[in-house]
Amino acid sequence: MNILLLGSGGREHAIAWKLAQSNLLNRLFIAPGNAGTAEIGTNIILSITDFPAIKTFVLKHQIEMVIVGPEDPLVKGIHDFFLSDIEISGIPVIGPVQKGAMLEGSKDFAKKFMNRYKIPTAAYQTFTMSSLDEGISFIRNSQAPYVLKADGLAAGKGVIICQTAGEATEELQSMLLDAKFGEASEKVVVEKFLKGIELSVFVLTDGKTYLILPEAKDYKKIGEGDTGPNTGGMGSVSPVPFADKDFMEKVETTIIRPTMNGLINEGIDYRGFIFFGLIKVGIDPYVIEYNCRLGDPEAESVLPRIRNDLLELFIAVGKQKLEDESILVDPRHAVTVMLVSKGYPDSYEKGKEIVGLDRTKESFVFHAGTTRDPSSGKILSTGGRVIAVSSVCNNTKQALSKSYANAETIDFEGKYYRKDIGFDLV
Ligand code: AMP
Ligand code: GLY
Repeated sequence: MNILLLGSGGREHAIAWKLAQSNLLNRLFIAPGNAGTAEIGTNIILSITDFPAIKTFVLKHQIEMVIVGPEDPLVKGIHDFFLSDIEISGIPVIGPVQKGAMLEGSKDFAKKFMNRYKIPTAAYQTFTMSSLDEGISFIRNSQAPYVLKADGLAAGKGVIICQTAGEATEELQSMLLDAKFGEASEKVVVEKFLKGIELSVFVLTDGKTYLILPEAKDYKKIGEGDTGPNTGGMGSVSPVPFADKDFMEKVETTIIRPTMNGLINEGIDYRGFIFFGLIKVGIDPYVIEYNCRLGDPEAESVLPRIRNDLLELFIAVGKQKLEDESILVDPRHAVTVMLVSKGYPDSYEKGKEIVGLDRTKESFVFHAGTTRDPSSGKILSTGGRVIAVSSVCNNTKQALSKSYANAETIDFEGKYYRKDIGFDLV
């Protein structure tokens, strides 16, 4: 099968790496990819939201499946674009149609959906510019801390937690009146702060049935001990010890199944990943957010623990035959440590040469923000998150020590990584 994979991060390198193990794979193209994906398939220069250009490429190269890594093309309707065009409507797209992607693309849509299907989530209200005054009194009448969420996609930056009502009011004004997050903050969800421990649960669905993948925990803050600003994710661990059988049963009965039933009930033909960002409050799971894709860096810990042929699973998704499949999980423990550029998540330096990649041992090295300089052949950093180092061992401690040994071996100017991934679990 000829595949086009969209995206350029560590998640996409991990997906490409997993697809490459399949006997069913013929040619793999990655748009735009990175220096890691270039080792596995062919990187192509193509905007992942230029759907007509993607169509032209798909027809020219006899692509038989399109796999969408990040949310942006999904929220912009790439799957619908394919379905509406007779020349490409038969080519399966892994990733939901736009209405399904709204679970991530609009926090207000997701909250309403959860309320309709009684899926546990924080109590909330949504405000716009015209209801700003009500928003301010809602804040005054609620208790600190205050959670404000831009409704639309904001590159992971749209959630603000304020400690005082004054701060929350200012933030609400800046989001609604000054378009702090552009169009994404034309609506703002203000919700109750939940105290607990977070984890990420993933399912793969064909719109009828679903398979639950290994869960993971990601470490979002830049600083050790979960301090400082949020990032795209500084590391991940799978499995998550507190996600035991009882807890996961609750997740399935109170969250996953009602979500699937809701999608079916609303006529949303969802084919792809659903990412449940959960928080365990006391003994119960609540949904913090939905995403319409795999997590990054969760994918770099989750995919190495899946023994299935990933392409076979994707083919089953396309044919709505997932009921014939089951997930084979490697019981061992996976850990991912992300190496990032100096300055990240604020402005950071790029173009640093990455050395030591060929000296790593017993880890998977997934590239995130990298490119190979065509003239020198050197691998250079191009992003805030640069390299993900994943290890799979009999326990989390061993996996951590392997990932950390290789995190030392790989080097680039300004390299930073958190040395305490999994600190709360081991
Ligand atoms: P999100 O972009 O929705 O994942 O939110 C980013 C982060 O904000 C989450 O990972 C949580 O750590 C935090 N967060 C979001 N909503 C809440 C909430 N209702 N209570 C506590 N923390 C939250
Ligand atoms: N690691 C969180 C995300 O992918 O959104």
